[in-house]
Amino acid sequence: MISIKSEREIELMRKAGLLVSEMHKFIKPYIKAGITTKELDKLCDDFILKHNAVPTCKGYEGYPTATCISVNEQVVHGIPNNYTLKNGDIVTIDVVIGYKGYQGDAAWTYAIGNIDDDKKHLLEYTEKALYEGVRMVKPGNRIGDIASAIQKYAEAHNLGVVRELCGHGIGREMHEDPEVPNFGIPNTGPRLKPGMIICIEPMLTFGKRDVLLLDDDWTVVTQDNSPAAHYEHTVLVTQDGYEILTPRLD
Ligand code: MF3
Ligand code: CO
Repeated sequence: MISIKSEREIELMRKAGLLVSEMHKFIKPYIKAGITTKELDKLCDDFILKHNAVPTCKGYEGYPTATCISVNEQVVHGIPNNYTLKNGDIVTIDVVIGYKGYQGDAAWTYAIGNIDDDKKHLLEYTEKALYEGVRMVKPGNRIGDIASAIQKYAEAHNLGVVRELCGHGIGREMHEDPEVPNFGIPNTGPRLKPGMIICIEPMLTFGKRDVLLLDDDWTVVTQDNSPAAHYEHTVLVTQDGYEILTPRLD
């Protein structure tokens, strides 16, 4: 069932989303060569707690930390650890924050120092693919319209679309209906209505689209070791279009 949020719920979702945006803005200056992903996670976790909010991922199905931090060939759900970021890496920080029972969710991929042209291409067109999907959000359009817009754009730029993971509805729970895939057919799937809130999150690869799950049961990596990027916004369906609840503040 796809829930329609009330005005009161939308106001709380805006606050949760804004905290997610503020956390991304807060952490950005720390995302540099020499810091470990565990140190980044600790800073994010402290930031969330300081704002009387909840790091929703921590403890979710046994996930250990506040953030998912995925480096280079890691697509999603990388567990923060003692890896030290170095020049040329790309790193995705993905976070879900709960505020008064409502969730916000956003991910961004960042470059460490100078990255090669392949990674530049990957980051530029994965971010743009997210907005290609977001642009399709308006009442009457369908989930397949978002999915196919992302797929077409990604494939036109020679990027692989990961099939095993997708976006989702969000509200009191971090994962609600509907599923929001990054590939599909226009004019299919659930129809969007004002008050629905969804997370759109293309996960694209520079090489082949196939992925593997590591032994830690969380980290998803590309099979061919090619780099992957991930950009995600929480998006409200409004009367005549959309509102991004996790705006970029940097
Ligand atoms: N942003 C991720 C998602 O959309 C958060 C899930 S990570 C988990 O699925 F560790 F909490 F599962
Ligand atoms: Co998400």
